[in-house]
Amino acid sequence: MWLQYEPITEKKVKDQYQRVLRHVVIKEDDPIILSAKNELEIAVKEMLDYEINWAEDVQDANFVIGNKKELAGFLEEGQRCLLADLADEGFIVQTINQKSYLVGNTDAGVMYGIHHFIRLMQMKADPSQLHIADQPKNQFRMINQWDNLDGSVERGYSGKSIFYQNGKIVKDKARIHDYARYLSSIGINSICINNVNVWEEETYFITKKYLPEIKEIADIFSSYAIRLYLSINFASPITIDGLSTADPLDGEVKQWWKDKVAEIYDYIPDFGGFIVKADSEHRPGPFTYNRDHADGANMLAEVLEPYDGKVIWRCFVYNCLQDWRDRATDRARAAYDHFKPLDGRFHENVLLQIKNGPLDFQVREPVSPLLGAMSQTNQLIEFQVAQEYTGQQIDLCYLIPQWKQVLAFDTHIKGPGSTISEIVAGNIHVYKHSGIAAVSNIGNDENWTGHTLAQANLYGYGRLTWDPSLSSQQIAEEWIIQTFGNQKEVLAKIEKMLLSSWKIYENYTAPLGVGWMVTPGIHYGPNIDGYEYSRWGTYHFADREGIGVDRTIETGTGYTSQYEEPNRFIYNILSECPDELLLFFHHVPYKYTLKNGETVIQHIYNTHFKGYEQVEDLMDIWNSLEHVMDNARFKHVQDRLYRQKMNAKEWRDQINSYFYRKSGIADQYNRTIY
Ligand code: GCU
Repeated sequence: MWLQYEPITEKKVKDQYQRVLRHVVIKEDDPIILSAKNELEIAVKEMLDYEINWAEDVQDANFVIGNKKELAGFLEEGQRCLLADLADEGFIVQTINQKSYLVGNTDAGVMYGIHHFIRLMQMKADPSQLHIADQPKNQFRMINQWDNLDGSVERGYSGKSIFYQNGKIVKDKARIHDYARYLSSIGINSICINNVNVWEEETYFITKKYLPEIKEIADIFSSYAIRLYLSINFASPITIDGLSTADPLDGEVKQWWKDKVAEIYDYIPDFGGFIVKADSEHRPGPFTYNRDHADGANMLAEVLEPYDGKVIWRCFVYNCLQDWRDRATDRARAAYDHFKPLDGRFHENVLLQIKNGPLDFQVREPVSPLLGAMSQTNQLIEFQVAQEYTGQQIDLCYLIPQWKQVLAFDTHIKGPGSTISEIVAGNIHVYKHSGIAAVSNIGNDENWTGHTLAQANLYGYGRLTWDPSLSSQQIAEEWIIQTFGNQKEVLAKIEKMLLSSWKIYENYTAPLGVGWMVTPGIHYGPNIDGYEYSRWGTYHFADREGIGVDRTIETGTGYTSQYEEPNRFIYNILSECPDELLLFFHHVPYKYTLKNGETVIQHIYNTHFKGYEQVEDLMDIWNSLEHVMDNARFKHVQDRLYRQKMNAKEWRDQINSYFYRKSGIADQYNRTIY
């Protein structure tokens, strides 16, 4: 992936780095520092073909690396002030009088500083006059694996799990170790290693049957400053020890969890805590006992609190047995309706994990109105790096622009500037803990992510959680240079492909924010009515007159009322609503004219014909790279693009035919519709 450490051939750059790295001093008895030092050694050896000459004393070194405590006596006042202004995981890299300093507030900070320095080397930046002070914007920068013990990965599109195989935790943990290197290099500091749906056998992960081996995994991650979390089954006391109830207010149940948590921390002293999917898609939860989510989360929070453990409670709670005839129930409303009334009731070590949109990681959704709506409850936003609804790592879909749009969304919760980015950074309400989580997209495929170019989503996810102000283009450039080298042509062309890909995917799939229309169950490929008469609450309501979901206050489900002004007004009033979300909020006739001047039906035809052509353009761009690319990666991506073209064709023709048949309105340009 992006840690290939290709040799630097430019003599000038190579000399510059060799000069800076002449005599390096670094303290090395801590596992995190050891990993960081090791990474620097690998990078320098491979990129500069050079063995670092480690110095013993700070005085003898021309590159000094360490945390601020151990370097206290050697730092200048200015450096101390800079560090004091940075978070624990922050660092500085500076050159003063020919001597370079890489100092972290903590060992984790040192590690992030080293990764930063390596990245500069990969980007061939001039190292002679560095003045960097950096820190993560978000406290929680988390990855969720949806891996199961049988080796499968729920919504995994990159082969099997790297953690489990055939009902066992893998013996050879080399791949897990590499994953830790990748994650730490992009700033990730927390990982949950099992699926949020905790099945029968995985329920026993919190018992001595599995804890010794989970501890081994935890140790690998913690040597990269990544804390390990487990998803738990809310009904564990019943499943594991035959208790008659899992009622969170029952004394015996509380004691059971207390003992359980003590046992876990015996094995893993820096264990992060639990992720809980409760009362969601048939998973057990407090509702069974007439308790609410605060009761459930707080019971676990109390027993984790003495160990600094956290409860990450997911808000993906909705009625998944809806009657499609029932027009009053609106799944989009569910998370807000369930959780907003509970604001103020959650303990300080509970974080609510909220999906970025109110439905489920569609190619286009509005931002979840629950984000920021609870001033006294810690929140984490959840993204999906795995491309469940965005092409499943067969189709190219660079998701950074989507996430950036979400993070930039201004909720106006506390007046202008209350963006999602500031909310999850804990700057709008004073959250004790907050940040960003996402579902991982990796598996045991040789290239980790199924589609080689899907690596950019994982890379970009990490970089964004660290610094949401990085642009989609900057992130793409960094990733391409580190992964494919810095040939101008390769850079320009892959960048163009990545940056256009989200829009292209949207063009040939479900139009104007309406979502779904995918094959039920697998979620790849078109099936326009696949979810229309189902129990999942995901409808488009297309009839012969028009399409879309009326979520307005006056005539619809009232979902728009969950937003603050002016967003409420903008979404609620048809003429104000942005085109891209029109069908999410309104039911309109096919001949309704969009702000862009096209009618809805003509827009559907136009975007679908265009989307397919754009995939052909992607193929042409890629094909033109054959002479500058290694054959393996060239052929691999070429093959994926071909499959994407077939998918786009199916989407184009099914969507166009469906709406032509429903509406009877012909395409203005007489293109082929079936
Ligand atoms: C989606 C996804 C499921 C997953 C669920 C969740 O519905 O299709 O596989 O379990 O989200 O986030 O819990």
